[in-house]
Amino acid sequence: MADDAAAFDAARAEAYSTPLDKIDVSLQDRFVTDTFWPFFERLRREDPVHYCAESEFGPYWSVTKFDDIVEVETHHDVFSSQGAISIYDPADDDMQMPNFIAMDPPKHDVQRKTIAPIVSSDNLANFAPLIRSRAAKILDELPIGEPFDWVERVSVELTVQMLATLFDFPFEERHKLRYWSDLAVTDMSDVMTRDEVHAELMACAAYFKGLWDQRVDAPPANDLISMLAHGESTKEMPLMEFLGNIILLIVGGNDTTRNSITGGLIAFTQNPDQLAKLRANPALLDSTIPEIIRWQTPVAHMRRTARADFQLGGKTITAGEKVVMWYVSGNRDDTAIENPEAFIIDRERPRHHVSFGFGIHRCVGMRLAEMQLKIVWEEILKRFPTIEVLDKPVRLKSCFLRAYRQLTVRIPAAA
Ligand code: HEM
Repeated sequence: MADDAAAFDAARAEAYSTPLDKIDVSLQDRFVTDTFWPFFERLRREDPVHYCAESEFGPYWSVTKFDDIVEVETHHDVFSSQGAISIYDPADDDMQMPNFIAMDPPKHDVQRKTIAPIVSSDNLANFAPLIRSRAAKILDELPIGEPFDWVERVSVELTVQMLATLFDFPFEERHKLRYWSDLAVTDMSDVMTRDEVHAELMACAAYFKGLWDQRVDAPPANDLISMLAHGESTKEMPLMEFLGNIILLIVGGNDTTRNSITGGLIAFTQNPDQLAKLRANPALLDSTIPEIIRWQTPVAHMRRTARADFQLGGKTITAGEKVVMWYVSGNRDDTAIENPEAFIIDRERPRHHVSFGFGIHRCVGMRLAEMQLKIVWEEILKRFPTIEVLDKPVRLKSCFLRAYRQLTVRIPAAA
């Protein structure tokens, strides 16, 4: 729940006193204060498929219940991903970077199939020792007895190192990946002009094009760039489409896992009984990891665009309208998940959540993300009996990614 009980109470009062048709769950300030929850609770109870006529992002439908989200995802013939997958509309033509998450079949299916082998069981097994040694090094180098930012020192560092491995990206240059990922998902308008952002993304494209050229001339290998460069359906890809897919994989493999690592620490801090349960029985990590991912829901929503009129929850969605599936809400739907507000590490069906989406676009990297989180927590549990969270987390202003910018912690000297 919200970081601050008084703020949460005020939000609840507002949620239940606002006329239903005026509720706008996309307001990003509420994602900074983590006070959006009661608005979704009200929609789930009173108007689960809800139309918002006016918002910063134009008119949109909200789908807030678990089963309705699954229904939208399943009808991908009606609910298209083409061109836009979040409530934000693409800015203009020269910045558009097509990628397969924002495509429909058949092109989506072919491109997805090209990169899927990166997360085959064999590849995951190959990656595991490297992830473990990198996690161990990062944790062993943490300062003891003094405050530090968990986001920077652990969550960012680990996911960026993993990403460098997936791309076989020059390791010493890995922080470029983090920079480009942030650039792609953060509103930079305060610090950069659109032209500057564009120039940076072009620099990213040029860098990856260089790696692409090297991989084309080398035998096929098990990294993502080589797979794209040698894939029958992807080797002739236009530059902007290549860049789009690279950004997809950077953001997909970076921010989501990063925020699950931070989210897990917050969940345990708020629920010390669950941490004690895990310490007493580390085998529970297998169900703990999906519960962290459900509880955090790093991707707050995905958006579709209706191609045809469709009846959902007694409402008629009209062709051309924007439909937002709120995973943050579906994962708190008590008609689908028992006691969904609670963080419970030994649920019977821990993978019954929509954090990875559903259907043909369901996350390609989910097993990799789960494996990475499991290794990190195994290594944390081995080392640190206590990690103190010293302050409220600083959250990203975004209704798309449920993300943390900073979390100040301390590992006590006695630990
Ligand atoms: C906890 C971590 C993660 C979460 C919560 C997450 C979440 C998601 C979600 C919600 C979608 C869209 C699903 C839909 O539209 O139905 C997605 C798609 C995708 N994810 Fe992830 N993701 C995570 C980690 C990763 C990782 C580690 C990678 C890759 C290295 C990755 C790569 C992708 C790709 C390529 C897609 C597009 C799939 C498609 O359109 O067919 N993700 N992810």
